[in-house]
Amino acid sequence: MQENKNVNYLTAKESRQISRENRRITNQIEKNRNRRNIPEAEYLTNMQDDGNVVEFDGLKTYFYTDIGVVRAVDGISFNIPKGKTVGVVGESGCGKSVTSLSLMQLVQRPQGQIVGGEIRLNMGDGKAYDVARMPTEQMEKIRGNMVSMIFQEPMTSLNPVFRIGVQLDEVINLHNPEMSKELIKARSIEMLDTVGIANAEGIYQRYPHELSGGMRQRVMIAMALVCSPQLIIADEPTTALDVTIQAQILDLLRNLKDKINSSIMLITHDLGVVAEMADHVVVMYAGRIVEQGTAQEVFLNPVHPYTVGLMASKPVVNREVERLYSIPGSVPNPINMPNYCYFRDRCDRAFDKCVGKYPPYFSVSPTHSVACYLYEDQQHAK
Ligand SMILES: Nc1ncnc2c1ncn2[C@@H]1O[C@H](COP(=O)(O)OP(=O)(O)OP(=O)(O)O)[C@@H](O)[C@H]1O
Ligand SMILES: [Mg+2]
Repeated sequence: MQENKNVNYLTAKESRQISRENRRITNQIEKNRNRRNIPEAEYLTNMQDDGNVVEFDGLKTYFYTDIGVVRAVDGISFNIPKGKTVGVVGESGCGKSVTSLSLMQLVQRPQGQIVGGEIRLNMGDGKAYDVARMPTEQMEKIRGNMVSMIFQEPMTSLNPVFRIGVQLDEVINLHNPEMSKELIKARSIEMLDTVGIANAEGIYQRYPHELSGGMRQRVMIAMALVCSPQLIIADEPTTALDVTIQAQILDLLRNLKDKINSSIMLITHDLGVVAEMADHVVVMYAGRIVEQGTAQEVFLNPVHPYTVGLMASKPVVNREVERLYSIPGSVPNPINMPNYCYFRDRCDRAFDKCVGKYPPYFSVSPTHSVACYLYEDQQHAK
């Protein structure tokens, strides 16, 4: 038989071996997760700063697939301060959704697993839990209540066979079992009203397919905010909408956030949305954070060549360009990541230092850090 030199090619035997090894690893993790009555002490932790709702600390979420391990999120750390909006940007497949799904414990198991790091969730009563180790029953109490999520495509999240009202009532009932039916209904209608739906009582009786896209997105927001969560995760909340509705939904989200004093983790590849909404910005590339800072720092003074490229590829009104800039090349294969900077092969500013290992973080200012050797000399004294 001829030897195959192509590293991307797997024989059936190799694939079987990988699956067997994957099963061994994931079974072990699942067995550990599925124990009954896990004591609180196992997932109790301490916030580094009580001013944060969530602290991601070295989070690693991997997918064990039959062709190898996908390091979808590979050691990311950032904080979401109380009352602030943190924007997470990066191109498709860089791990934005997997980061938010990890925080909700909604990563597709058993192949998807959190294999390292902590996600510290501030419970508000002086306690903090590590979501990575929290048992599922505990997480169910938090989901929708303390942390809730607005998904990209409302049609896939709303159940087509139930009326809007029934679905909203269910959320309220789940987290407030003592509330009476009438009170729940009144609360649902009030919430539909709050998100700007005219004729809330009529819409309460409708089915999802009878609503327009913008209205469905409003219903999704109503559903996510009905229990006044401390953190709202919005994963591409406006991608499916046209620009005017998009602006209205963003306004709504901002107003509601201030009303209930919660934080937002805003995931999007639309830099305009981030510029308008976010206080802090986290830029991800291939499962890692390449740059983070305040929105001002990242927008006015982007330092990582990838962020600079992202900014240059954003269309701007009143600026004439022949062609919109696009970053050359593509994201490396997530299964065979190189052991040097993942962006090097696409970077026009790469130099001899970039041949070495993946760059650590260098700080450009106390709140602005970047994983790029170009900024090694500018490091602030710690
Ligand atoms: N269930 C899964 N099984 C295997 N790999 C997965 C799974 N879900 C996600 N991945 C991989 O994880 C990586 C990150 O995916 P993720 O969905 O977080 O990207 P994203 O940044 O949200 O992209 P987009 O902007 O397109 O939504 C991708 O390489 C993707 O292929
Ligand atoms: Mg996504």
